[in-house]
This record gives sequence, C-alpha cells and structure tokens, in this order.
Amino acid sequence: MLASFFSRKGTAALMGKYYDRFMSGIEEKVLIRRRKQLFSGLQGKILEIGTGTGINLDLFPKKTTVVGFEPNPFMLSHAYERAAFIENPNRFALYNLKTEDGTDILNEAAPFDALVFTLVLCTVAQPESLVRSLLPYLREGAPILVLEHIIDPHPLIRWIQKTINPVWKRCAEGCHLTRSTDQMLEQIGLKATNASYFRAGLTFYQAVLYQT
Ligand SMILES: C[S@@+](CC[C@H](N)C(=O)[O-])C[C@H]1O[C@@H](n2cnc3c(N)ncnc32)[C@H](O)[C@@H]1O
Repeated sequence: MLASFFSRKGTAALMGKYYDRFMSGIEEKVLIRRRKQLFSGLQGKILEIGTGTGINLDLFPKKTTVVGFEPNPFMLSHAYERAAFIENPNRFALYNLKTEDGTDILNEAAPFDALVFTLVLCTVAQPESLVRSLLPYLREGAPILVLEHIIDPHPLIRWIQKTINPVWKRCAEGCHLTRSTDQMLEQIGLKATNASYFRAGLTFYQAVLYQT
C-alpha cells in the first residue's frame, strides 16, 4: 500500500484524483482571480507548460488558441473533460508529454504569442534550462506569464520549508517549496513588469516578463 503510494504512478494517480479538491480553497479565495488578471491581455497562440487539470483553459481569452503539455495522464484527463465543455474546444491542442519531449510539436506550432507557467516551475526537473529552451519558440516581444509559489522570505518559514521539502517533493510529484523562481527568471535575463508578491498559505510571485 505504502509502496504504491510512493511509486511514481501511485503519486501521479493521487495527484489526478485529489489535486483539484486540495487546491479548491486557495483557488476560490485568491488564485482564480489572479489567473484571470494575468491572462486578461492575452491574444494569439499560447504555449502553456504543465496544463495540469486544465484550470486555465476557460480563463484564457476566448479568441486565443492553446498548445499545452502535461505528462501526467491522470491530470490531463481532467483537462480534456474541462476543454470539452468550453466553447470551441478545437482551440486546445493538449499533449500528454513532458515539454522537453515535444520538440517536434513546438517546431511545428511556433512562433507563440505568449508563454504561460502557473504553479509549474516549482515542479519541473530543470526549470532554468526549460525556460531557456522555450524562448526561441516565442514571437519577438511575446510575454512570459508567471504565477508561482516561491521560497518564503521569512527565515523561520524558509527553514521549515527546507526541512520538509524532501518529503513534500515525494508526496507532491516533484513540487519544491524552496525555489527562488523570481530570481532564476531574472538571472536568465528576463525583465519583469507588473511583478507582485502575495501570501496565500505560501508566498507567491506573479509577473509578466519579457526578453531583453
Ligand atoms: C502543480 S501542477 C499545476 C498545473 C496547472 N498549471 C495549474 O496552474 O494548476 C504542475 C504540473 O506540471 C506538470 N509538469 C511537470 N513537469 C513538466 C514538464 N517537464 N513539462 C510539462 N509539464 C510538467 C506536472 O505533471 C503537473 O501536472
């Protein structure tokens, strides 16, 4: 029983089953509003990394089209269900792949008018190299939209996060509590506009970034 809980397939299935329920409180209180605000100016073809259960699909403006990558089939099945209830579901091309394995699809679909990461740079194995690898697929001037939880600024909370991170990662399919995603994006050379930080259980970073 425990072995199956900690197996990769076991945690993937549990994420698919319980993720939306686990997140529903914070989504209703804070995140849905933040997502809507972040996506309000989007247009054209969006590249979404880590579509998850598809929570963003109905929040993207109606005239956009979306290419999404999601390696967990248990999460993606919810995204397909969600997409089916949205007007013109043909707008969504969702692939059951890690983004890193989707080079052919990216080459064919590029250039993209926006790149979206929500609650995913905490989870991808090599976030910096993934972000760098995606920049060539963007149209010049395309925004990179980010809504991510990051390590807390408070020393005691940071210590707690670092202490529980190994177990958390194991239970939450690779999600890290300890990443400084805001600094990582800056180090890549992306310039943030409209950046904001807020606390909702964890500390979150929201920004629209551009290549300089
Ligand atoms: C915490 S969920 C967030 C889902 C969604 N973006 C949201 O805002 O609710 C993170 C998702 O990223 C996916 N993921 C992890 N590594 C990935 C990669 N290399 N490419 C695409 N998706 C990835 C996971 O399977 C997981 O479903």
